[in-house]
Amino acid sequence: MTEQPALSPAKAQADAPANTRKVFVKTYGCQMNVYDSDRMTDALSRDGYTATEDMSEADLILLNTCHIREKAAEKVYSALGRLRDMKKTRASQGRELMIGVTGCVAQAEGEEILRRAPAVDVVIGPQTYHRLPEALKRARTGQRVVDTEYALEDKFSHLPQAEKAKTRQRGVTAFLTVQEGCDKFCTFCVVPYTRGSEVSRPLAQILDEARNLVDGGVRELTLLGQNVNAWHGLDADGRELSLGDLLYRLSEIPGLARLRYTTSHPRDMDERLIHAHRDLRMLMPYLHLPVQSGSDRILKAMNRRHTADDYLALIRRIREARPDIALSGDFIVGFPGETEADFEATMALVREVNYAQAFSFKYSTRPGTPGAELEDQVDEAVKSERLERLQALLFSQQYAFNDSRVGMVFDILLEKPGRLEGQLIGRSPWLQSVNVDGDPAEIGSLIRVRITGAGNNSLFAERI
Ligand code: SAH
Ligand code: SF4
Ligand code: F3S
Repeated sequence: MTEQPALSPAKAQADAPANTRKVFVKTYGCQMNVYDSDRMTDALSRDGYTATEDMSEADLILLNTCHIREKAAEKVYSALGRLRDMKKTRASQGRELMIGVTGCVAQAEGEEILRRAPAVDVVIGPQTYHRLPEALKRARTGQRVVDTEYALEDKFSHLPQAEKAKTRQRGVTAFLTVQEGCDKFCTFCVVPYTRGSEVSRPLAQILDEARNLVDGGVRELTLLGQNVNAWHGLDADGRELSLGDLLYRLSEIPGLARLRYTTSHPRDMDERLIHAHRDLRMLMPYLHLPVQSGSDRILKAMNRRHTADDYLALIRRIREARPDIALSGDFIVGFPGETEADFEATMALVREVNYAQAFSFKYSTRPGTPGAELEDQVDEAVKSERLERLQALLFSQQYAFNDSRVGMVFDILLEKPGRLEGQLIGRSPWLQSVNVDGDPAEIGSLIRVRITGAGNNSLFAERI
């Protein structure tokens, strides 16, 4: 006898009433876009939309875009070209397909997107997502809508918060945006223009959202901000709080097992935050602290406003507070004027810090940033050659870090089923994926394991 399979989500959607529209969101770029995509989906679900993973059945397709490097931005236009054909086919079948561009390309290019991509109905910047349902209504009357006003406070008070949802839907880890925007104006970077100036979400809103997520089964929270350690707020008595204080407060939520935060700027790592790393066991010993370059001359030209030595001294203090902490970073090679000696200084800094993980990029000239005006742009071939050398060093550090975990005993948080039946994937304190035998019913729990092997990107473990 064959058993009737459980109703799959796809089947359930196919049977949904005809007036239920479906939205497909494609997310590019950073974790904040991932968070925003979920909030937009939540806002649209109040408007009768269900999310779908299958683009071909969507009535609305949103591209949540990234403008950080030229390649990232160009990807959007090639995707829009393909969508134009899809929209034509749909029109010939008499079926609606609406297309929206959101995120940082929307903010940076606005109207220009309508000119270059005739298929687009709405363009909405990251600060106006709460007005998306309204914009879609207008677009349905035949108008093409561009909404890229800055209204960050509005966004946080009007966008639905991450709501309580069962672990199975939400996963055991979640992002929570606590701060958005950036006032640092590094000379290579578009973020201060696409995300606006720094705004912190109020403490009460963050605590509410965190409790909701934990009630829904989330065990690990990652606080997000372009410059997350610039977060500040007031407690109920009107006292000034910093990110360190916020972490202490969040650590008191019953049921929450782990805390992380990203991304930090070296200039905003204050004493309180370093103490949080010393005191809070649930604050994971992993810190993403981008430095971009190891050359003081280049750091100055980048307007990072610290030296390589400042950064190294800071890392020493953090390691003193939390000796098992692992560092991760971002690097740019080929910033205008970078000489071989400047690049060697970056290599030297990397050797000194010894990173567990890192992201490295060739400098990409971004229109509207001060870097674009600089003479002495570095040749593409030189950039490629430097990137290769830097990545060889960074990867060797990453593999060595993974290897150094073999034989260690620690807790992992079980996150999802593994590739093979009977296997699960958990997360180490240092953000590595760990393969272990187990039953899907255990997802969401912490288990103690011994590491038996290491690959380039993941670990293998046995329970103890
Ligand atoms: N707010 C974070 C990073 C934001 S962007 C911070 O301050 O560290 C993520 C990374 O992209 C940056 O750290 C940088 O390494 C890289 N990046 C940003 N602009 C770039 C550009 N124009 N060219 C190449 N890489 C860039
Ligand atoms: Fe960009 Fe610098 Fe701000 Fe980071 S700190 S988002 S790199 S301007
Ligand atoms: Fe990209 Fe915008 Fe994030 S430019 S990296 S999506 S803040």
